[in-house]
Amino acid sequence: MRTDAELAAQVMERIDALAKISEDPGRLTRTYGSPAMRRANDLVAGWMRESGMTVEVDPIGNLIGRYRAAAPEAKTFLLGSHLDTVRDAGKFDGALGVLVALACIQKLHSGNQRLPFGVSVLAFADEEGVRFHSSYLGSRVVAGTFDFDDLKRVDSEGVSLREAILRFGGDPDVLHGARLDSKQLLGYVEVHIEQGPLLEIKRLPVGVVSAIAGQSRISAGFNGFAAHAGTTPMAARRDALAAAAHFIVGAERLGRNTAGLVVTVGEISVQPGASNVIPGCARLSVDVRHPEDTVRESSCEALRLLGAEVASERLLGLDESLLRAIAQSQSPELSATLKGVSIKCGLLWQVVQSTSSVQCSTELTALLKEATVQHVPSVLEIPSGAGHDAAALAAITPVAMLFVRCKDGISHHPDESVAEADVLVAIRVLGRFLELLAKKHA
Ligand code: GLV
Ligand code: MN
Ligand code: MN
Repeated sequence: MRTDAELAAQVMERIDALAKISEDPGRLTRTYGSPAMRRANDLVAGWMRESGMTVEVDPIGNLIGRYRAAAPEAKTFLLGSHLDTVRDAGKFDGALGVLVALACIQKLHSGNQRLPFGVSVLAFADEEGVRFHSSYLGSRVVAGTFDFDDLKRVDSEGVSLREAILRFGGDPDVLHGARLDSKQLLGYVEVHIEQGPLLEIKRLPVGVVSAIAGQSRISAGFNGFAAHAGTTPMAARRDALAAAAHFIVGAERLGRNTAGLVVTVGEISVQPGASNVIPGCARLSVDVRHPEDTVRESSCEALRLLGAEVASERLLGLDESLLRAIAQSQSPELSATLKGVSIKCGLLWQVVQSTSSVQCSTELTALLKEATVQHVPSVLEIPSGAGHDAAALAAITPVAMLFVRCKDGISHHPDESVAEADVLVAIRVLGRFLELLAKKHA
């Protein structure tokens, strides 16, 4: 039987093994449905089996390892996190929670120990939402809150989510059947790196989460008019990228001036995209988060108004006949493309996802604190600004989370780093938590 320290070392080795599985050479990127995701699932499935679990893949591709209870009719407790990553990711976000959970099951298995409840370890196939711009796709299937309109979403290559699920070996038509029965569940606990600096500042290896912030994801676009970069005077331009830049700076200002609000434009693409063409169209993502849903929602509305104002000032304010005259007189090529084409300028605004903030369960969090205090000097409660699968699972069962300190608070970046000693504490706290829960349900 491995010691806790050996299990922590094994978690670090496994983190490294998973970090080598990527769809991008030289950096870690594992998005939903990719061959890398398949290989990660296969590797983790093997580890699950070694830990005495039976393994199943649900219709969207979530990996589920089940460790049976002492008695056949017992309920189930859920542990887990996700195996997908952002682009050029760190190696701990998601994988750590799956592997710490597996380490605890491995310990139970090697000690021939059964609990008064079954334990399922869930390794979700899509939390980050990188490919289809909608987070929690995996956990929303398990929670029965999957939005079937999402099947029509397309990735950057035009592949729909429906098609991606089929190619991944899943079945988009039976997703509703993968919902777990809340009556059979006792709760869900997720271990995750903090992704912020608070634990490091307080010199604590782990802390518990009080609530998970809600988030809105918006797909925005500025439509201007593509024209010749050399011949169109500055005053006669409808530069969509300049409008987007104006909007981005305004969005940043709103975030800075509103307590607790974070606003991020993380993606931008420009059409037609040439150094000698004024951008005709700029598409961008807007990510908006706040612990209070009302502030998040009113901020989204303020951002939409800002976008509309920028679009009307920069893209609609010009005299169209002036633009045509300039184009015709100075650029015959451009005038040809202009004939008979209606020019549409303005703002495109689509809220693609909106999730409410979620409070962690008082009972489970109290148990997690009890387990934590046995291994660290004090318990810090932290609200999570990042989204987690626990937020989706809260629709069907009480949830709690344990955060693990990460170096300099860095995450969603290859420099993401967690100390092995802190992983050891996380394994001990989660192990103790399961013991306390087992006593409660004995
Ligand atoms: C997930 O990591 C998110 O918070 O976007
Ligand atoms: Mn993440
Ligand atoms: Mn994560």
